[in-house]
Amino acid sequence: MSMFQDIERVLISEAKIQARIVELADELNALYDDADLPVLVCILKGAFVFLADLTRHLDFRHEVDFMEISSYGAGTTSTGVVRILLDLASNIEGRQVVIVEDIVDTGHTLDYILRSFTARNPAGLRVVTLLDKPSRRAIDVPVDIVGFEIPNEFVMGYGLDYSEQYRNVPYIGVLKPEVYREGLGIS
Ligand code: IMP
Repeated sequence: MSMFQDIERVLISEAKIQARIVELADELNALYDDADLPVLVCILKGAFVFLADLTRHLDFRHEVDFMEISSYGAGTTSTGVVRILLDLASNIEGRQVVIVEDIVDTGHTLDYILRSFTARNPAGLRVVTLLDKPSRRAIDVPVDIVGFEIPNEFVMGYGLDYSEQYRNVPYIGVLKPEVYREGLGIS
């Protein structure tokens, strides 16, 4: 049985994502040039696909770095208790930093990252997220560039997971309700 049979519907098609990424990259291309040499920080794991596509449309010199964050929370929502699983390899003091996120939901994860980064004294800090669920926001966080605003639905694909799976799906989709109810039969 194919994992694609678990998907109820496509929320954002592959073509729409790719077209929007060109626009997002153009926004960044207007903000930075070679002299800025920004560091794009991919928030793992969900943003790895987005970062990979976005970086290839940028025309200014930049570096990439990675940070892995875990949100403690039952099921599909974060509780605000966040911890760093993998920290940056680079020193961002005095650097221009662009945080690359997959989705901003309650805002707890991004709030934690912003506080952690601000304490490291970067020269500038901006946030780009592919998806935004504004109706779910529990804490006010500044987001500079948003790919798509989406309704309050749990989505997967294009890097986003359900139970660590479906990250390879090339579009943003919604799973069938029975998949969420029954879980994936793994612990
Ligand atoms: P927040 O802390 O509630 O803003 O949640 C941020 C993190 O929760 C994201 O970086 C995702 O990893 C995860 N997340 C939130 N909503 C979804 C969703 O609809 N699908 C998959 N992951 C999600």
